[in-house]
Amino acid sequence: MTRVFSGIKPTGHLTLGNYLGAMRRWAEMDQHRSEALFCIVDLHALTVDHDPARVRRLSRQAATLLLASGLDPERCTVFVQSHVDEHARLSYLLECVATDGEMRRMVQYKEKAAREQQRGGSVRLSLLTYPVLMAADILAYGTDEVPVGDDQTQHVELTRDLAVRFNQRYGHTFVVPKATHPKVAARVMNLQEPTSKMGKSDDSGPGIVYLLDEPEVVRKKVMRAVTDSGRDVVYDRQERPGVANLLEILAACEGGNPEDLSGVYESYGALKKDTAEAVVEVLRPVQARHRELCADPAYVEGVLRAGSEKAREMARPRVDAAYRAIGLLPS
Ligand code: TYM
Repeated sequence: MTRVFSGIKPTGHLTLGNYLGAMRRWAEMDQHRSEALFCIVDLHALTVDHDPARVRRLSRQAATLLLASGLDPERCTVFVQSHVDEHARLSYLLECVATDGEMRRMVQYKEKAAREQQRGGSVRLSLLTYPVLMAADILAYGTDEVPVGDDQTQHVELTRDLAVRFNQRYGHTFVVPKATHPKVAARVMNLQEPTSKMGKSDDSGPGIVYLLDEPEVVRKKVMRAVTDSGRDVVYDRQERPGVANLLEILAACEGGNPEDLSGVYESYGALKKDTAEAVVEVLRPVQARHRELCADPAYVEGVLRAGSEKAREMARPRVDAAYRAIGLLPS
């Protein structure tokens, strides 16, 4: 059976981008057709300036939202990264396979490091090594497929390179995984800045739809989305990024294609109205289930505990094998 692994980082409130680019597919497809693991990757949240209490809160909230989005603990494994030591154990070995040069070429590192420096902060070493930990997350489980949004492609490519290199040097240990992306909404853009990704750690709230935004807030954000000069409602990502983003969001919510919606609308206002309603409808059941789950935190904790036990059992033999293959004495 295909093994699937993916993760989400508790660095901010989860967004419509996270949902359409990743979470929705995990719930609707991946957990039904594969042996799937979904992880709240809390160690990754420590790579930038962080508040410990906030990380704890966001980790719990992310777990609750994953379950609210339809992940079923009977069908898949949901767990927290820091509860399974194998991730950090394997990460060190992979640091001994990766090079400084390839880490510095990672686009997300370059962007985030520049942002931290602009704010006058220092860049944590873990921000540089972060993609290696991500590779460890994936490789520890013999993962075949990694369902992610577009922005993670480079990290999954690095993971493949590290797996191949390790296997060539030390003998076959890791499955070489591949990234999979949704057909539509693999990169949802910020509504106020449609040339930048809608990111949960960004500061510009008005351009980001959060999964827990009230319907009225969603409507306001979508109705105020930046569109483009010109009037035709056509799908053109290069020339009309604002309109293209709305068409993608609408198509993703309704299960269609943005190209098919090109020319259907006569005004930006009408497109925005339908997009806002479609988003509200997609979020409605997730928010309702989230409310129920919040009333039962012991259930969520139980799911995470059972998930980490299962994940540990799955990861340990392969990570132990990697320790032996690379030349470390068995304990
Ligand atoms: P993170 O937490 O930034 O995002 C979680 C998932 O949501 C997708 N995503 C988007 N998709 C479409 N449009 C957007 N605007 C958008 N924003 C986010 C991401 O592509 C991702 O699939 N490094 C990862 C977390 C991670 C991971 C892993 C993922 C750590 N280890 C192992 C897969 C496998 C990250 O920062 O995701």
